Amino acid sequence: MKKYKVPRGTFDILPEESFKWQYITKTFRQTTQLFNYREIVTPIFENSEIFERSVGDTSDIVEKEMYKFQDKKGRELALRPEGTAPVVRSFVENGLHLKPNSAKLYYLGPMFRYDRPQKGRYRQFYQYGIENIGSENPFIDAEVIAFAFHFLKELGLQNFELQINSIGCENCTKEYDIALKKYFSKHLNELCSDCKTRLEKNPKRVLDCKVKNCKTIAKDAPSMLDYLDEDCKTHFSAIQKYLSEMQIPFVINPKIVRGLDYYAQTAFEIIDTNLGAQNTLIGGGRYSKLVQQLGGANISGIGFAGGFERLLLSLENENIIFGMEQKPEVYFVNLGENTKYESVKIISNLRKNGISCEFNPDKISMNAQMKEANKKGVKFCLILGENELKNNEIILKNMFTSEQQNVKRDKIIEAIITSKKS
Ligand code: HAM
Repeated sequence: MKKYKVPRGTFDILPEESFKWQYITKTFRQTTQLFNYREIVTPIFENSEIFERSVGDTSDIVEKEMYKFQDKKGRELALRPEGTAPVVRSFVENGLHLKPNSAKLYYLGPMFRYDRPQKGRYRQFYQYGIENIGSENPFIDAEVIAFAFHFLKELGLQNFELQINSIGCENCTKEYDIALKKYFSKHLNELCSDCKTRLEKNPKRVLDCKVKNCKTIAKDAPSMLDYLDEDCKTHFSAIQKYLSEMQIPFVINPKIVRGLDYYAQTAFEIIDTNLGAQNTLIGGGRYSKLVQQLGGANISGIGFAGGFERLLLSLENENIIFGMEQKPEVYFVNLGENTKYESVKIISNLRKNGISCEFNPDKISMNAQMKEANKKGVKFCLILGENELKNNEIILKNMFTSEQQNVKRDKIIEAIITSKKS
C-alpha cells in the first residue's frame, strides 16, 4: 500500500509535543490579558489583492511565496502569508475604530509561504501576533515592543536581543532611496539578480538580501538614520527613552528594513543570539498607510508577529520547562462483568465533579490495568471488584505511596479531594 507523507514544508504537531505549543499559547494569552489585547480571528484565505496592495507586489512574499488560487467562481484568493493585512481588512470592514476597546487586537494561527523549507522555516507555520491600531504616539510603539519583550521573558527565554530602527516616513525615504541607488549602482555587477531588480523598484530591499555578496556590500551602505526628518527623529528618540524607562535593553540596528512594504518609522526585530540562519523570533513595526490602503481612515498602527517553530527551538535550546504533559488524575480499574455498569456510573460522576479519569475497557486483568496506570503516571487508582460492589465500597490506591483504603462509594469524591491535598 502507498504510504502518504505531509506536504513538503509542513509538519504534524504530535500529542507528545502539543503540550509545548499549549504552553506558548497559554503564556501568550496571559500576556494579552496583562496588556489588555482582545482576540481577533480572521479566515485562513483572503482575496489575494489584500496582500498585493499592502505587503507589496515587489516583496518576496507576494512575488514568490504566496499560495494563490482561483475558486470555482474564478475569485483570486490566497492563503494568508501573514496576519497584519487581514486584521486591518477586518478592522476597516467592521468599523472597529468606532467600537470601544477594539484597537488592541491579537491573533494566533497558521500562515503560509512558499519558501525553501529549512530548520525554522516552513511553508505552513504558526504565528502569534498583536496589532495596535489608531495612535501614532511613540508610547504605543514602546508598549508594543514591551509586550514582545515581556512575553519572551515570561516564557523563561534568556538569550535574545531586541534590535530597533526607524525606517522613516515617505518624506525621508525619498532622499534615502536616491542615496541607496547611488551607492549600490557602484556595485551593480556584484549584486545578485534579484537585487538588481530591487534597486530599481525598492532599493531598501537590497539591505535585507540574504545573499553573502549583497550582505557584504550592504555593510557600508548609507544609514537611514542619517536621513530621518525632524518628526521621525523625535519619534524614534521618544521610543528609546520609553524603552530605557521600562528597563528594556535594545540595540539600534540601522540595517533592519523588514521584508514587507507597509512599514514606516519604527521597525524592530527580536533575534535569538544562539540560533542559526533563521534566528528572527519576532518581527514588527509601524504602518502608517495600511489602514487607508485597505479602504479605512487615515490612521496608523503598529504590531508584531513571531513564529512558534523558532520560539520552540529557542526554548528547547535553553532547556526551558514547558509545564506538565497532560495526564489523568485517576485510573479506573474494573474487575469483572458484574461491576461494569457501576464502574461507568462512577467514572461519569468523577468527570462531572471535575476529576479527570482514564479507563480502558479492553484491559481485563488486574495486572494489565495496574501496569497501564503506572505507565500513565497517575497518582490514584480506583479499584472496583465483586467484593467492593457487594459492600458498597471501592478501593482508592495512591500509586506514589502504594497506600490504599476502602472508601464508601458515596464518599469517593471527598476521599480523592482529601488525598490530593496530602
Ligand atoms: P514577518 O517578519 O514576515 O512579519 O514574520 C514574523 C515572524 O514570523 C518571523 O520573525 C518568524 O519568527 C516567523 N516566520 C515568518 N516566516 C516564517 C516561515 N516561513 N517559517 C517559520 N516562521 C516564519 C510579519 O509577518 C508581520 N505581519 C509582522 C507584523 C505585525 N508587523 C506589524 N504587525
